Amino acid sequence: MGKAVYPGSFDPVTNGHLDIIDRASKVFEHLIVAVLENPRKSAMFSMDERVKMLNSIVDQYDNVEVDFYEGLLVEYVQKRNFSIIIKGLRAISDFEFEFQMALVNRKLNRNVETMFMMTNNMYSFVSSSIVKEVAGYGGDIRDLVPPQVYQMIREKFALNSRNV
Ligand code: PNS
Repeated sequence: MGKAVYPGSFDPVTNGHLDIIDRASKVFEHLIVAVLENPRKSAMFSMDERVKMLNSIVDQYDNVEVDFYEGLLVEYVQKRNFSIIIKGLRAISDFEFEFQMALVNRKLNRNVETMFMMTNNMYSFVSSSIVKEVAGYGGDIRDLVPPQVYQMIREKFALNSRNV
């Protein structure tokens, strides 16, 4: 069904992201997982770390590539010669903002279409912010993130507490 870009902050990657990557990889011939470099938002993981964690996860898919972008998403999509943005929708609470982003993106470039996939209900409550919050208080996040990410989060928190 052509080519799609799955954009996000992926700070960190969750099992919800993984579910969308897995299902989108079966629908599209070529999927780019594109990480936003956002200088206005301080991230827990650097761009290098996020790309590394995603690469270790998408390794098993021949048609999935990891990349990063700065600035407007539609400009990146056009630069790569793609025309579909794929996003995951977890719950009705995601809808309003995602709807707004899809409309803005269409206004900016009417050749770019946004398509939504409903997240597997097992992960409908999982977000990167929730993972960071729970991990920050020492809660168990093993069922919420891929094993490589779990390890990277553990290392990050161990490092932070050593620095304090
Ligand atoms: O994982 P996130 O943070 O919900 O993803 C949001 C993201 C990165 C897809 C979106 O904020 C984005 O692409 N921003 C880049 C700037 C842009 O294109 N803005 C116009 C659409 S709101």
